[in-house]
Amino acid sequence: MEQDSTGSIKEEAQPEQLKLRAGRAVVDAMVKSGMKLGLGTGSTAIHAVRRVGELFTQGVLQDISVFATSFQTEIECEKFGIPVYSLNSQRLSSGLDLTIDGADEVDPQNRLIKGGGGALLIEKLAAYASLSYAIVVDESKLVENLSLAFPVPVEVVPAARVQAAKALEKFGANVKLREAVRKAGPVITEHGNLVLDIRFCSPVDPVIMEAELNKIPGVVENGFFTGNPPVVYIARFNGAIDVRGVQLLHEGKK
Ligand code: A5P
Repeated sequence: MEQDSTGSIKEEAQPEQLKLRAGRAVVDAMVKSGMKLGLGTGSTAIHAVRRVGELFTQGVLQDISVFATSFQTEIECEKFGIPVYSLNSQRLSSGLDLTIDGADEVDPQNRLIKGGGGALLIEKLAAYASLSYAIVVDESKLVENLSLAFPVPVEVVPAARVQAAKALEKFGANVKLREAVRKAGPVITEHGNLVLDIRFCSPVDPVIMEAELNKIPGVVENGFFTGNPPVVYIARFNGAIDVRGVQLLHEGKK
């Protein structure tokens, strides 16, 4: 809580409330019955998943097909009985109508860093297979330049741990193997890979970097997301929700 100039106490929304509001707002505005929907991962996206679950349970959303970007998302969908499909399935092989996800950083052109939760590989698959892409964040995720404060995750096959790190250092990045919590040693992704978190000390071009990092042998994917410009739902500290970018609305098709 903070005091304004008149001395009265002004309540600021707590981070969890901000995530909740943004997650619900994007679903209420963009998700329609019949949609093929990508659902993202993390502490913000999960509120969108739960809102989809609520509306599905109430029968407000019907005939949706979901592609889940992680175990977390899949498990949450199971709780609501939401039908989850592989992106290889006949049902979803033509692509997704909309993907909703969180982000670690968003720049003024709505380019992103994602993968703080280690789910970048499948999150990118969903993002780039979607006609519409929506990101939900609280205001703290907005930055002028990506990857100066929050590191970009780079998923590598285990055999490339040392060689890929050396190649990444040649881009001027500081490289750190992501360590696990409550498990000895490194994080192992849901695809059996390792994560190298890299941080730059001066601004880089995220479009060029996204392409260049993926050329390193052994790199599976990186956390710059620049290829499908999203509409961004921003939960402001004052409680407002701002929508930035072009909102493409597609009707769900069977
Ligand atoms: C998961 O791998 C990420 O891409 C998340 O979407 C991102 O880290 C944002 O997560 P939070 O909403 O938990 O900050």
